[in-house]
Amino acid sequence: MEKKNIDWANLGFGYCKTDKRFVANYKDGAWDEGVLTEDDKVVISECAGVLQYAQTCFEGLKAYTTEDGRIVTFRPDLNASRMADSCRKLEMPVFPEDKFVEAVKETIKANVAYVPPYGSGATLYVRPYMFGSSPVIGVKPAQEYQFRIFTTPVGPYFKGGVKSLTIRISDMDRAAPHGTGHIKAGLNYAMSLSNIVEAHNLGFDENMYLDSATRTYVEETGGANFLFVTKDGKVVTPDSETILPSITRRSLMIVAKEYLGLEVEQRKVTKDELKDFAECGLCGTAAVISPVGKVVDHGTEIIFKDSEKEMGPITKKLYDTLTGIQMGRIEAPQGWIQEIL
Ligand code: PLP
Ligand code: COI
Repeated sequence: MEKKNIDWANLGFGYCKTDKRFVANYKDGAWDEGVLTEDDKVVISECAGVLQYAQTCFEGLKAYTTEDGRIVTFRPDLNASRMADSCRKLEMPVFPEDKFVEAVKETIKANVAYVPPYGSGATLYVRPYMFGSSPVIGVKPAQEYQFRIFTTPVGPYFKGGVKSLTIRISDMDRAAPHGTGHIKAGLNYAMSLSNIVEAHNLGFDENMYLDSATRTYVEETGGANFLFVTKDGKVVTPDSETILPSITRRSLMIVAKEYLGLEVEQRKVTKDELKDFAECGLCGTAAVISPVGKVVDHGTEIIFKDSEKEMGPITKKLYDTLTGIQMGRIEAPQGWIQEIL
């Protein structure tokens, strides 16, 4: 398959229309089979549930070209199950998890010309999403839904690539206790837009959200989980009911323990202990692992000495092992890598 003529090495994290997308419709209590189509336009009622009351959720995963030229994806079954959780919480019909994985693979296969070559630094981002498509005016779930998957080739999520990020502690909250922080609902992102724009305008790369009940514990950023390394080399990640259960973070915890023999802790992390960590990073599908150099708490700078300028040594080992697994250079745990071509 001939690749598209794209400047892979200079891609940012943006949308680039590719040839095919998957579309399935839910009507009269059942999903149809779904099709791959070239039509990138969505036509729905002006009163659709998604447009009135934001009844929508999404997922994100990637396709990679391996060192030996295969096209693979990473743990799509976990995206399927997380999307099912999001759907249940938002009163949306679950798209069957096995069919989700099948549709993801079919969509990647249909856009294989857009999967960036091995070593280019780019990947194919895959975006499954669902929304209420039928009219809703009283506050209630829609009767009809559309599930779609599109793909777009992407480069690094954060501009500047390997340079360490500066993050501010946010005054605004992301997720309430017993709310929707643990699912991938569009509304979680809509409410964060003014905060991210303000952070960028003030020269910060992202916001660190604290738990909204006590403003004591570290939660996550608008689009990634946190990962810290202690001065004695322990990998620590915040435990919270109100953050998104990142697939990258869950995978990294296994990589840290099983591949690198590191001690791993998932626990509550207080804002006050940030100063004690040697390294900090953000992890997620889009972010992969992006190093954090400092967190600014209302004018007070908390510097992570070992990741101040670039990725810290332990974070780098985690990054190299995870991307090595994804690109086929390192043997993956059973079931992590699903081959498409
Ligand atoms: N946290 C938030 C709020 C996100 O949007 C994402 C992205 O999906 C993540 C964390 C990272 O999750 P994952 O590693 O599954 O992509
Ligand atoms: C992802 O990492 O897949 C996400 O959905 C995060 C988003 C902020 C791009």
